[in-house]
Amino acid sequence: MSGPWVEKYRPQKLEDVVGQKQIVARLEKYVGEGSMPNLMFTGPAGVGKTTTALALVKSILGEYWRQNFLELNASDARGIDTVRDRIKSFCRLKPVGAPFRIIFLDEVDNMTKDAQHALRREMEMYTKTASFILSCNYSSKIIDPIQSRCAIFRFAPLKAEEIKGRLEYICEKEGFEATDEGLDSIVYFAEGDMRKAVNVLQAATSEGEAVTEDSVYEVVSKAKPQDIGNMITKALMGDFMGARNILRETMVLQGTSGEDMVTQIYQDVSKRAIDGKMDPGIYMNLIEAIAECDFRIREGANPRIQLEALLAQFL
Ligand SMILES: Nc1ncnc2c1ncn2[C@@H]1O[C@H](COP(=O)(O)OP(=O)(O)OP(=O)(O)O)[C@@H](O)[C@H]1O
Ligand SMILES: [Mg+2]
Repeated sequence: MSGPWVEKYRPQKLEDVVGQKQIVARLEKYVGEGSMPNLMFTGPAGVGKTTTALALVKSILGEYWRQNFLELNASDARGIDTVRDRIKSFCRLKPVGAPFRIIFLDEVDNMTKDAQHALRREMEMYTKTASFILSCNYSSKIIDPIQSRCAIFRFAPLKAEEIKGRLEYICEKEGFEATDEGLDSIVYFAEGDMRKAVNVLQAATSEGEAVTEDSVYEVVSKAKPQDIGNMITKALMGDFMGARNILRETMVLQGTSGEDMVTQIYQDVSKRAIDGKMDPGIYMNLIEAIAECDFRIREGANPRIQLEALLAQFL
C-alpha cells in the first residue's frame, strides 16, 4: 500500500475538484485576472476546502507558489501568538516571482474573538502584499469585520453521485472490483464527506478484497440500515425478543456504539414518517423516547439497557 489515498487522490488542479462547480468557476475568474480578494471558505469537513485552496494557490501564484505561500492552523498548539508572529514575518517580505503572497489559515472558527480582532488588523496592514484564505466549519463563529473583508464561499456536502463517481474512479486506478451495494454503503456512511468515503474505501480494500457491502461494514462500525429497519419493524409489530436479538447482534458483532445506534434509529423512524409509513402521532411519541435515550447514553448510562428500554416503547 502506498500511503493514504486521501493524499494520493487529492485533486491538484481546480478543474479536478469534484462538485463545488460554482465555487470553482468563481475562483477560476481570479486566476484569469491574476488577483484575488481575501477569501473565506466555510463548510463541513472533508468537502474540499483545503484542497481547493491549494489548487487555487498553485494556479494563481504559478511556479514559485511554495516561496509565496504560508499555511497555518489557527488552533496551533503553540498558541495564537505564534500564529500571528509567523503571519507578521511572512508578510514583511516582498513576494518573489509571484504577484503577491497568500496565507492560508485553517480552523479560524477556533480563534477567540480577541484573536480574530487582531487577525483583522493584520489583514488590513498587509493588504498590498498578501491575500488571506480563511477556512472554517462555521462562518457564524467569525466576527463580522472579518466576514465583511472576505469573499465568502460556502462549500456544500458532496452529493451521493459525486462521491460514488470518485470512488469508482479510485477503484479503477487501484485495480479493485466494487459492487454497487458496496459503494452505496460507503456513500451512506460518508454523509457527504469525501475524506471519510475515501478512507473507508481504502480500509475496505486493505485485504486485497473486492468492495462489497460486507467488506465495508467490516471496517465501519455502523449498523447496516436493513438491520436497523428490521429491528424497528419487529419492535413495532410487538416482537420484542426478535428486535432485542438484532440489537444485541449489531452492538456485539458489528461493534456499533450506543450513540450511533440511536442516530440510526432516529434516521430510520424519520424516514418512515416522511414517507407516510408511520402515523405522525406515533412518530412524535417515538421521537421523544429517542431523545431521552440519546441524552441518557451521552450522560453515561449503559447503552444496551437504554436501547432495550427504547425498543420496549415501540411496542
Ligand atoms: N471536492 C473534492 N473532490 C475530490 N476529492 C476531495 C474533495 N473534497 C475532499 N476530497 C478528498 O478528501 C481529502 C480531504 O479534503 P480537504 O482537506 O480538502 O477537506 P476540508 O474541506 O479542508 O476538510 P476540513 O474541514 O476537515 O479541513 C482530500 O485529500 C481528497 O482526497
Ligand atoms: Mg481543511
